[in-house]
Amino acid sequence: MRAKALIHLDRLACNVNAISQMAAPARLIPVVKSNAYGHGAVPVTRHLAGLGQDFFALARIEEAFELIESNIKANFLVFGRVFPDKLAEAIKAGIHLTACCEQDLKWMEAASGGRQVKVHVKAETGMGRTGLLPDDAPAFFSRLMETPCLFFAGLYSHFATADEADKSFAKEQIVSFRATAQSLSSAKKQPAMLHMANSAALLDLPEARFDAARPGVILYGHYPSEFTSKAIIPKPVMSLVAPVVQVRKVPAGFTVSYGRRFSASQETTLAVLPIGYGDGLHRNLSCIGEVLIRGRRCPVAGVITMDTTIVDVGNGPVEVGDEALVFGQTAQGQIPAAELAAKLGTIPYEITCAITQRICRVYLEKSPKFALPLLLAVDNSLK
Ligand SMILES: Cc1ncc(COP(=O)(O)O)c(C=O)c1O
Repeated sequence: MRAKALIHLDRLACNVNAISQMAAPARLIPVVKSNAYGHGAVPVTRHLAGLGQDFFALARIEEAFELIESNIKANFLVFGRVFPDKLAEAIKAGIHLTACCEQDLKWMEAASGGRQVKVHVKAETGMGRTGLLPDDAPAFFSRLMETPCLFFAGLYSHFATADEADKSFAKEQIVSFRATAQSLSSAKKQPAMLHMANSAALLDLPEARFDAARPGVILYGHYPSEFTSKAIIPKPVMSLVAPVVQVRKVPAGFTVSYGRRFSASQETTLAVLPIGYGDGLHRNLSCIGEVLIRGRRCPVAGVITMDTTIVDVGNGPVEVGDEALVFGQTAQGQIPAAELAAKLGTIPYEITCAITQRICRVYLEKSPKFALPLLLAVDNSLK
């Protein structure tokens, strides 16, 4: 028995349907970077492709290569800069590439080998990371349009504050993006598509939908922040569960783990879970985290170690083999990833991305309606 990340493909399907309906007529470019936010890029993308999605976004070129090597037939857009050592291979594979400066265009032309290069220009509108700066735009667009092998496949930008309560800066970004698009259109330099919206903008800024939207976190069942509207109710796609591997009744005064930061105030039952910060369960949840066992909240007792976490079950029932839900939603209840994120002063994105490779991802076509035998059943199905 070991801890697992259950990946609820049925919920992923519900989420993508709800998001598609909300975004229509804009199409989706689901964001599957960083191992699909920790959910497993290959199985998640394959599942979404099976549901009709045919264009995905990634951060790094190696992430796109992995999906292509896994025989997933779709279009892929890479947000990050691709250097000459990988460009020829990327162009040969037909990957949509981002350009933010003239140097990118020069490299792409040099690596094209007579092939067409699908170029998405990332415009700087306020995110301040990598977009094309306004001063560089005239020379950049002249080169783009004058280089026959470069196809202007898209113009895009990214929001800095769409997930905040105050949308004024996000609206300024839309105005700036639209102005760039309009001036290009008047100069007959129109891209094949415009795309800007992330999850937060999809929820709250309908004017940002343009031709395509790039949802990430909402696809996986989380709101980008507590400040966005709840225009759809996404379902959590990952449930992190750990089996109880040992149960011990201990007396008052019994102390637990490094630093002895937990001391039992009375006789209690402790359950041992084979999960720790080596699996991505953040050590700062020591003494403040909670798990669900048989539908009851059980606090983390003492310091989370690399491989093991102890929880205080009090006088509640518990047996070896019980499922402890660390976050997500199973038949016994739910602990939102956003709750852990709030305790840690971070965002749900980081909670799922942090789950390490040591945790086996188990893909469920249908989320089971039962809790207790789940871990054993899943173990059996892995044999
Ligand atoms: C360029 C770009 N577009 C879209 C997204 C998806 O954002 P979200 O997960 O907030 O929907 C990201 C994520 O960081 C991104 O970097």
